[in-house]
Amino acid sequence: QQYTIGMIGLGTMGRNLLLNMADHDVAVAGYDTDASKAELLETEGQGKRVKGFVSLPDFIESLTSPRTIIMLVPAGKVVDSVIANLEPLLNQGDILIDSGNSHFTDTNRRVAELQSKGIHFFGMGISGGEAGARRGPSMMPGGDKHAYEVMKPVFEAIAAKVDGDPCVTYIGPGASGHFVKMVHNGIEYGLMQLIAETYSLLKNGLKMDNAAIGDVFDQWDQGRLQSFLINITKDIFRYREPGADHELLDDIKDEAKAKGTGKWTSQAAMDLETPIPTIDIAVSQRDLSKYKKLREQAAELYSGEGRGIDAVKQEYLTALEEAFFASMIITYAQGMHMLLKASREYGYELQLTEIAKIWRGGCIIRSKFLNSIYQAYEKNPQLEHLLLDEGVKTQLTAALPGLRTVVTSAVQSGIAAPAYATSLSYFDAFRTGRSALNLIQAQRDYFGAHLYEIIGKEGVFHTEWVPKEEVDLE
Ligand code: 6PG
Repeated sequence: QQYTIGMIGLGTMGRNLLLNMADHDVAVAGYDTDASKAELLETEGQGKRVKGFVSLPDFIESLTSPRTIIMLVPAGKVVDSVIANLEPLLNQGDILIDSGNSHFTDTNRRVAELQSKGIHFFGMGISGGEAGARRGPSMMPGGDKHAYEVMKPVFEAIAAKVDGDPCVTYIGPGASGHFVKMVHNGIEYGLMQLIAETYSLLKNGLKMDNAAIGDVFDQWDQGRLQSFLINITKDIFRYREPGADHELLDDIKDEAKAKGTGKWTSQAAMDLETPIPTIDIAVSQRDLSKYKKLREQAAELYSGEGRGIDAVKQEYLTALEEAFFASMIITYAQGMHMLLKASREYGYELQLTEIAKIWRGGCIIRSKFLNSIYQAYEKNPQLEHLLLDEGVKTQLTAALPGLRTVVTSAVQSGIAAPAYATSLSYFDAFRTGRSALNLIQAQRDYFGAHLYEIIGKEGVFHTEWVPKEEVDLE
């Protein structure tokens, strides 16, 4: 028994996370059924206290007791089968951490099952991809507090740092860690869709080439839009395979895949009755992208539709920067609102200040603006909605003219920009104190006697809107 932490699943994320721990002087063991992965771990971990195993019992035997084991395997059935294989080998008091993108309801179930057997199980979201895992991810651990306390020094050592603060915090009880990671991914989907629409507006609207588009993202990355996603996007626009005469991006099929976390976010938001329409539309657009053949047929059939954007380029680029900034704020705001609602509904006790804080570094949605989000919640931890913060309001208001210009031009030129349009519509609906949905209440009562409330009056009411015999049932 000589290794402090064990990892099951030595794919890129698992292996890199383990090597990151080894860099911080933790003796680590890794297990994978694939011998080449166990070997790769040892090769890359040469000179460090790292050992790879292909035998589960040997791996378990090598760990100091009580054992601490992290799983990084694909979400779903694989997690259950790993747990089933592992369970007979574990003792009461051992700690088991699921660091994959598991669905929070699966985590709830597993917490209950393993708790009854005396095993400290907790779900932890990790963000930052390959590089993050290796050099410093953002981590969202939730559930068993004892397990967290044991792991805290290691987590804090390996996490990304912002102003010296580690990008990890105890998220809350139950499946809160996986829930927060899921919403992180929903925001990720929203921001990626906004960037893709920006690409389309620049390419199809302003007829700019990849190099020029790359320069726009590069410039954005120097200013208030500075973020991981904008930063990698600029690189993508410049990348050519050795000897190629054009950028690789042009050859990549325009069908976006998804592992499910964005869809789960939308599904969970519907269950919570909390609107996150920018994230919803991002999921829908990935789905629509998969119907390439139909899109191609439609493109031919409706070839008369659409034209370039008629604008002074520099003015348009200024508007677009504002549009992205405003939509980005609105996307984050939707995600944070969903977290607040989930926290109340599921008893997660989420500290939005802390969540904004640990998202500032290491994760895929890290951005300069997350500092403003952090400040907003730090000033008022009870903030009900990010868009109600004065500081955010000032920044958003100044950027709205650009968003209105961009959405208008997209609509007029027939270039799809649904994430921009939806973000703006969400904002306009959100700032409408007296909406038109009183009409929906009236309609519901008309055809179904569903009752309505009257402003300033207690109780619920029903009206015979027309004499019964006059209702046209056809
Ligand atoms: C992260 C990412 C990561 C996610 C990929 C792929 O935070 O590091 O969110 O967890 O798995 O981005 O997600 P999709 O395949 O659904 O796009």
